[in-house]
Amino acid sequence: MPARTRGSGARAGGSVVSAQVRRGSLFQLIAIGTLIGGAVSAVALLIPWLPPSASKERDRIDFVFWFTTGICIAIFAVVAAVSVYSFMKFRARPDDDSDGPPIHGHTGLEIFWTAVPTVLVTAIAIVSAVVLSRNTSIPKNHLTVEVTAQQFAWSFRYPGQGDVTSTQLRLPLNEPVELELHALDVIHSFWVPEFGQKQDAVPGITTHLKITPSKLGTFPVICTELCGLGHALMRSQAIVMDPKGFKKWAADAKKGISGAGAGKAVYDNNGCGSCHTFTPAGSKGTVGPDLDKLPAEAKQAGKPLAEFTRESIVNPDAFIQRGYPPNVMPKTFGTLPKSQLDALVQYLTQSGKKGAK
Ligand code: CUA
Repeated sequence: MPARTRGSGARAGGSVVSAQVRRGSLFQLIAIGTLIGGAVSAVALLIPWLPPSASKERDRIDFVFWFTTGICIAIFAVVAAVSVYSFMKFRARPDDDSDGPPIHGHTGLEIFWTAVPTVLVTAIAIVSAVVLSRNTSIPKNHLTVEVTAQQFAWSFRYPGQGDVTSTQLRLPLNEPVELELHALDVIHSFWVPEFGQKQDAVPGITTHLKITPSKLGTFPVICTELCGLGHALMRSQAIVMDPKGFKKWAADAKKGISGAGAGKAVYDNNGCGSCHTFTPAGSKGTVGPDLDKLPAEAKQAGKPLAEFTRESIVNPDAFIQRGYPPNVMPKTFGTLPKSQLDALVQYLTQSGKKGAK
């Protein structure tokens, strides 16, 4: 048997040398671990990975996120330190062809590295469960907003505020809100990054999401489920207002449902402008035909303007404008109440006449 060089020195030198070697190794391990842990912590903390929080739910989610990330950084630092130390210390010399020492495992070590992850994973599970339960519990007194998703627009209805509808999600500060999500055609998904949660809007069922806004401001509402040609444009805004401002907005909007602006309100609230250009409404969408050219299109189709406009809303594939694919415009607008449909047709034909000259 060739004499072993590695590992045998400490034993030969007695327990004093052994203790010194161990202390030295431990110091080196801790130094390497601190260095790696510090570098990884800097990457985690100094780069703004997430947009700033704007809801209480997001704050709790962030806590779970950082709790888990902290544990991961600690484990990574330990594993990386032992690896780096081993690479440096126990690397075989180029002329060393001997076998390594036979190792049969270490019961104490195995119990340790099974117990520690068990405790950590259990801790993460408990923290997550507490946050999940708090994020979904809704107090009795809360605002309800019905969210309707369709290709390719969001609309928000406030049943407690006289059925006011809006294409923007307006929320009062610090008040828990329950969103009831519906989809009219395909699956969409509601996401405000600053609120920290996503929820699918699925045809045929109602899904729920609780938000307690904690910061005033305007945040993007994003559709985060590929839902068709205009998916990337299916965006809106969440506007967090002070509670007084919210009440005033709701009261004003309630007055505006009927009256002269009704047609424009229907146009705005159904998100027509996200796909269509229509100068009187100030919309510049390009997914669907230019509504400023409605009179010319009616002529092409050989139909009176009002009849053509109504048919195009209710049965959009009856006449497809050249250059546009069929089956893109949702067939769901036929379900609008007759008064709203009339107001919309009138708005599109009357203001369209003026716009087109
Ligand atoms: Cu709706 Cu993507």
